[in-house]
Amino acid sequence: MKNITVKTSKTYNITIGTNILDTAGSHIRQKIDGQTAAIITDDIVSGLYEKRLSDNLVKNGYRVIRYVFPNGESSKTAETFFSILNFLAEEKLSRSDVVVALGGGVVGDLAGFTAACYMRGIKFVQIPTTLLSMVDSSVGGKTGINLACGKNLAGAFYQPDAVICDVSLLSTLTDEVFKDGCAEVIKYGVIADKALFESLKNPIRNNLTDIIARCIEIKRDVVMEDEYETGIRKLLNFGHTVGHAIELLSEYKTFHGHAVAAGMAIVTRATVRMGICKTDCLDELLKMLKSYDLPVNTKYDAESLTNACLSDKKRGGDSITMIFPVEIGKCILKQIPVNEIKTIIQSGLEVQA
Ligand code: GLY
Repeated sequence: MKNITVKTSKTYNITIGTNILDTAGSHIRQKIDGQTAAIITDDIVSGLYEKRLSDNLVKNGYRVIRYVFPNGESSKTAETFFSILNFLAEEKLSRSDVVVALGGGVVGDLAGFTAACYMRGIKFVQIPTTLLSMVDSSVGGKTGINLACGKNLAGAFYQPDAVICDVSLLSTLTDEVFKDGCAEVIKYGVIADKALFESLKNPIRNNLTDIIARCIEIKRDVVMEDEYETGIRKLLNFGHTVGHAIELLSEYKTFHGHAVAAGMAIVTRATVRMGICKTDCLDELLKMLKSYDLPVNTKYDAESLTNACLSDKKRGGDSITMIFPVEIGKCILKQIPVNEIKTIIQSGLEVQA
């Protein structure tokens, strides 16, 4: 078992281990005194893991209530958000009670935003069940919902009180959902750690606990330096501006990690053409993404991608902060005027023979 402490506006522990879902209730009880635990989950995860969690919460003295919504990004709406808020109010949760997010990124983002807003903030625990949510979305306090104009456009920075990562829960993921998380793992290698990147030449599944812990450490260090994303935290968005545009254009049928994989490849191709990084950096990234069967381009054109990018919240006035790799393990931030985005995306879409 590994423990990683995050010191931000709230200090909390991330516990990484195997079969720790069965003791999650006692883990939560050590930190949270309340009477009621509200499990928020989706209709796939519910059937797989909710009973194990619920049984242990009851054993540790909690009254357990549950809110289950349909799996998928299309649930991450204002409608589901208000429905969960009303559910918590009808069940008379108080500020000392706890919301427990059991699921992937959609569950964590929705449950976290609800916990941030209900009574101006109640206790909140993340139990991520996908690789992507373990290495990224459950850590660092970003919560939110999608609006018609774009992804995560309404939300809050709201740190959890604890994160419990049970690596054995990943055994039930489909290949598509597992690969989605691999894209975010590859991202950490490119932005911060060449040795991690090199280690991914062996299948991620062979070394899950260490790889997840390393990604969380990288994210912890970045978030502790820049909790509210005014600077260095933007590095974590490598591939995400174009990735979010792909998700939006696909009406969220393209999974987040797959869209980010294509976004990383497109931006890196453009970066080579801008003379910021060398071709071997691009070649290594493309080879790695392909080895995990992740996409390295998109069917959408530069015009549509640019329009979708401009509604992304990474825009600040008339520029967007883009993240460009210099070499594997090192990326830089650059302010790009809005009127140059289309040219950059166009050059990233073009594959040279
Ligand atoms: N997913 C990027 C971040 O948490 O900042």
